[in-house]
Amino acid sequence: MSDDDSTSRFDGTEEYYAEYRPDYGERVVRYLEDRFELDESASVLDLGCGTGQLAIPLAARVGEVVGMDPNEEMLREARRKAREAGVENVEWVVGSDADLREGLWSDLGTVRLTTMGRSFHWMQQGATLDCVHRMTEPGGGVATVADTEWLTRGVEDWEAAAYDVADEYLDDLPERTGPVEEYDDPWDELLEARGFADVEVRTLRVEREWTIDEAVGYVFSLSFCSPERFGDEKDAFEADLRERLRERRDERDDRTFSQTAEIDVTSGRA
Ligand SMILES: C[S@@+](CC[C@H](N)C(=O)[O-])C[C@H]1O[C@@H](n2cnc3c(N)ncnc32)[C@H](O)[C@@H]1O
Repeated sequence: MSDDDSTSRFDGTEEYYAEYRPDYGERVVRYLEDRFELDESASVLDLGCGTGQLAIPLAARVGEVVGMDPNEEMLREARRKAREAGVENVEWVVGSDADLREGLWSDLGTVRLTTMGRSFHWMQQGATLDCVHRMTEPGGGVATVADTEWLTRGVEDWEAAAYDVADEYLDDLPERTGPVEEYDDPWDELLEARGFADVEVRTLRVEREWTIDEAVGYVFSLSFCSPERFGDEKDAFEADLRERLRERRDERDDRTFSQTAEIDVTSGRA
């Protein structure tokens, strides 16, 4: 079974995640569709699916999606979002990368594509890629998808201001590094080392606008800023964060904060 960390890491974030973590957008889904010839005949495994940011839009393009995640509350939110979107061809399965390797993979049969959106960094990566390689039909592959996490890596002053407030409340906030080197996570090299061919890294830029409600909701969707981490101080933190963001907004006279997000898709063929 999943270890405690993978099951509990996002405890308390699930509703915020479903509501405030942005989708990746049409261009990312279309890129995957073209590259892996996704159609009615294809099955997709979305590992670490969370609340369905990839599984739900992919479902419209393929015959079947399995959305797998160790966190049952995430899956509950994913089911709700799929229902709202009228999507019926996703099977939601409780499981982590360890569960997949330890047997779940043989229940799933072969898949055209395995996706891991903002989740690969939580996994035992080499062994998981080996397992995915075995499960993939000829011509199919694997794709990791990740975008800029703005609280710790964003370049905007409003992002830094939000970080400073969180840092006043939490002792163990990850360091704010700003943008990191391209090869911070050389997942393309890892894919090649595990036998994937035609490896490609595609970076897509999207412009996003954030209201204060959305920015606050996003912060609570982060595993390291979950409402549970703030405990009794959650309301005080939220009030301070809103106040600090209002100050920033009033200085610039805009209703929303702008952000350029970079979405990296690293993929290869089995
Ligand atoms: C940041 S969320 C990403 C959700 C969604 N895929 C997306 O793109 O927004 C990370 C997800 O990975 C899941 N997760 C954490 N550890 C995992 C593991 N060892 N194996 C599979 N999923 C894991 C978490 O429960 C969480 O739902």
